[in-house]
Amino acid sequence: MPIAYLNGEWLPVEEARVSVLDRGFLFGDGVYEVIPVYAGKLYCLDRHVARLQNSLGEIHLADAIAGVDWVSLLTEAVERSGDSLASLYLQITRGADAQRSFVYPAAPEPTVFIMVNPAPNLARQEIVPLKLVTLEDFRWDQGHIKTISLIAAGMLKNRAIAEGANDAVLVKDGEVTEATSANLFAVIDGVLVTPPKSTRLLHGITRDVIVELAQANNLPVKERKLTPAELKTADEIFISSSTMEAWPVSHLDGQVVGNGEPGLTWQKIDALFQAAKVSS
Ligand code: PDD
Repeated sequence: MPIAYLNGEWLPVEEARVSVLDRGFLFGDGVYEVIPVYAGKLYCLDRHVARLQNSLGEIHLADAIAGVDWVSLLTEAVERSGDSLASLYLQITRGADAQRSFVYPAAPEPTVFIMVNPAPNLARQEIVPLKLVTLEDFRWDQGHIKTISLIAAGMLKNRAIAEGANDAVLVKDGEVTEATSANLFAVIDGVLVTPPKSTRLLHGITRDVIVELAQANNLPVKERKLTPAELKTADEIFISSSTMEAWPVSHLDGQVVGNGEPGLTWQKIDALFQAAKVSS
């Protein structure tokens, strides 16, 4: 049984128990990170910890959990798991409170949970391009906070699947934001385009790595607003996340993207990413 960490204890994940009064359970009051593990090492760990601190700050939970050495704790979790290719899940909630109150408890005792999961997509064995459908982004406008309140993302993902696709391209006020759990890139007129960072989308670590790799290798790349109409003209589309890396898209709203095969830019980015992840 995979090992988990819960509030100072290491135990089999299926034995881990949390109070029903936990505000994560009652309110979705918490934040999380998902970090890829390559060759037994957490990739871009510092960036993930920085984003975690930002999320904790945004929900006013940073002080209650200050002083935790995240790098040591997360590294220990990977070592204990024995997994060399995996993804680590870390969740921090505001903890149990005797009352179900909308007001934050004065002295919260956060719940910290870590598990290490298999990550089959990271093995890069079979890359079947994805079908996407465009859906209205009805999530909240604080998408830069990596909150465990994921009901809207789940609704959108499942709606996309019900429409015969794998995922959704989300559109808010006429602009593409991201996919339900990944950032989005398009190749338009030879330029790799991704929506700019804002409070409407998660500031993906994989996204940042891809933008930096493109810049360092003289591939034209631009962070700019993207409309759904433009996206329909794209020669290539791909998504990015810690559990997918860069993953190509073959269809958008039932139309073939490019020639339906993973495009040249995606191939270049993927090759750069594969090289970057082993040398990190
Ligand atoms: N999701 N956008 C959203 C809404 C996400 O949930 C994610 C990641 C990303 C990509 O971020 P990163 O490159 O830092 O993983 C973008 C994770 C993998 C998840 O919820 O499982």
